[in-house]
Amino acid sequence: MTVVERVDRYVSSERGTTTLEGTDFDLEDAVMGPTGRPHRDFPEPAPLASHGPARVIAMVNQKGGVGKTTSTINLAAALAEFGRRVLLVDFDPQGALSAGLGANPHELDLTVYNVLMDRKVDIRDAIQKTGVEGIDLLPANIDLSAAEVQLVNEVAREQVLDRALKSVEDDYDVVLIDCQPSLGLLTVNALTAAHGVIIPLICEFFALRAVALLVETIEKVQDRLNPRLQVDGVLATMYDARTLHSREVISRLVEAFGDKVFETVIKRSIKFADATVAAEPITSYAGNHIGADAYRRLAKELISRGGAP
Ligand SMILES: Nc1ncnc2c1ncn2[C@@H]1O[C@H](COP(=O)(O)OP(=O)(O)OP(=O)(O)O)[C@@H](O)[C@H]1O
Ligand SMILES: [Mg+2]
Repeated sequence: MTVVERVDRYVSSERGTTTLEGTDFDLEDAVMGPTGRPHRDFPEPAPLASHGPARVIAMVNQKGGVGKTTSTINLAAALAEFGRRVLLVDFDPQGALSAGLGANPHELDLTVYNVLMDRKVDIRDAIQKTGVEGIDLLPANIDLSAAEVQLVNEVAREQVLDRALKSVEDDYDVVLIDCQPSLGLLTVNALTAAHGVIIPLICEFFALRAVALLVETIEKVQDRLNPRLQVDGVLATMYDARTLHSREVISRLVEAFGDKVFETVIKRSIKFADATVAAEPITSYAGNHIGADAYRRLAKELISRGGAP
């Protein structure tokens, strides 16, 4: 949508000729974008002629409830709509990602836990198809909580996930790892396996504090384990255009991270929780909703930045 179209849409909505359901459309956001940069459209990603090797992206924030899992599912679904093959790795013993894609945690035969702990387990036997075309899942359940302790005595304990993913990297274009809210050994494994990190961040002041520690951890991993690792971007989630608070958090974020802050911002909407209950990404549950469009835009922005093929 062009700026003119966005403004038109805004004006017509004010006159009541259009109902923008679920939208709190904001003129300033329509023109400038919430991150204070002029609103622009990212190019439609070109289809891929061949697949792999995958770019691995860890979705990390040690703070809970900031939108990691929601962003993992919906970014994956948007990338899949653009013809990218995506592997999702549930790296949280809570198994929210697996549940969000309809996997029953009690009926899982093999999970990422078995892949990590037993070299004889073939990762391909643990990977499942999902209901979404183009997305496969390496599921997790509560078993994974034991891995943190059990891995401590392993040789090269930080590289276990990296090693496991190597054998399937040619099957996918993107691997997204949904991390648990901690900076423990599992998250360090994810950072060691990754090319890039996306930091989802809820638009609240107290959430900003967590980021300093996270950046420190990322730098340590870059230094000691994985020099290729880079921060792909900081994703502002649960943004509420009506509150000054949300706007202030974003301007602080842009001050601290500059262009690393994705221009795409995810607004707060109850539709995300509804989609989770339906065990579907929002792109299929409510494909026309602004939340679905936001994740499509994020996928385009990521691709245009070189963060995904
Ligand atoms: N943009 C949004 N608007 C409103 N609610 C959202 C949004 N994104 C996520 N949520 C809701 O917020 C809650 C936390 O989101 P999510 O599970 O994605 O966070 P998380 O960072 O993965 O949490 P955890 O650290 O516990 O794994 C969920 O109930 C989810 O439905
Ligand atoms: Mg989560």
